[in-house]
Amino acid sequence: MTPLPAAELHLHIEGTLEPELLVALAARNGVALATTDLAELRARYRFADLQSFLDIYYASLPVLRTDQDFYDLAAAYLERAAAAGVRRAEIFFDPQTHLGYGVPLATVFAGLSGALADARARHGLSADLIVCFLRNLGAEAADETLTAALPFRDQFIGVGLDSTEVGYPPSLFKAVFARAAAEGLHRVAHAGEEGGPDYVWEALDLLGVERIDHGIRAMEDPALVQRLRADQVPLTVCPLSNVALRAVNSMAEHPLPAMLEAGLRVTLNSDDPAYFGGYLDDNVAAVGRELGLGPEQFAVLARNSFDACFAPAADKRRWKAEVDAALAGAVQH
Ligand code: HPA
Ligand code: ZN
Repeated sequence: MTPLPAAELHLHIEGTLEPELLVALAARNGVALATTDLAELRARYRFADLQSFLDIYYASLPVLRTDQDFYDLAAAYLERAAAAGVRRAEIFFDPQTHLGYGVPLATVFAGLSGALADARARHGLSADLIVCFLRNLGAEAADETLTAALPFRDQFIGVGLDSTEVGYPPSLFKAVFARAAAEGLHRVAHAGEEGGPDYVWEALDLLGVERIDHGIRAMEDPALVQRLRADQVPLTVCPLSNVALRAVNSMAEHPLPAMLEAGLRVTLNSDDPAYFGGYLDDNVAAVGRELGLGPEQFAVLARNSFDACFAPAADKRRWKAEVDAALAGAVQH
């Protein structure tokens, strides 16, 4: 089946590093890996929680060293995303990780921005970058990261907050998010993945975020659900990620149907597809199969994704018309 057009709004480019590319980049750059056996690498991708994933994920990233490495990483994702029906991608990356491994920000931006430009030309895919702050490194480091990124202001559209959630609440980052807002940057934050509803409240009220990444634990707080529905705050939900990191016990227990039922502006996303069992279309297939979502709900999710994205209004209208046309075509046949 042709996938519905959609925007992918929760995607860490570092989380698209497939074992094949990891091994190729390690060889290209002379970086030693614990193993170069693809099956063995994949076998390690079993996680108990967010932190056990992050430990493996960060350990792979020293293989990224040059413009070309970052280009190859993003180009592979964008090609795969285009095949999954993605028309618009808002892509997270973690400058602090690469700076920590001695890679200048200019290198990271050059490679990623080059791939984004080529994806537009090659696949008609619209994409932009969002700089994420690693919350476990604290507020001062986040502020330094924003300062380091601002010379590249024309190459990113917003800031986000990721990495270890519990113990690093949004309130710590109030000042740096206020600074980002003053720069005219969009603001999003991971909240309510492992952290409780209080993290979602803080992200909304203290950081002024325009979207919540994950947000599944918001369902534990009826007043918060009411707030999210009233304001139609987008929630970028990542079902395969939530199962892989045991944020939910099983796909059958995922709150996605309840979130849709509650009238929340939910979108579907792949988070770190190389690690969690697949890309956007794989997430669509999984929730169709295991949660019984049907065409009507997939249409809502696709429209939500375009409503929630930071692209120009004319693009959003065009993509939503494409969703309508795809549905009309599906009904006729
Ligand atoms: N949560 C927090 N940090 C992350 C994630 C995630 O799902 N993926 C990559 N960094
Ligand atoms: Zn994420």
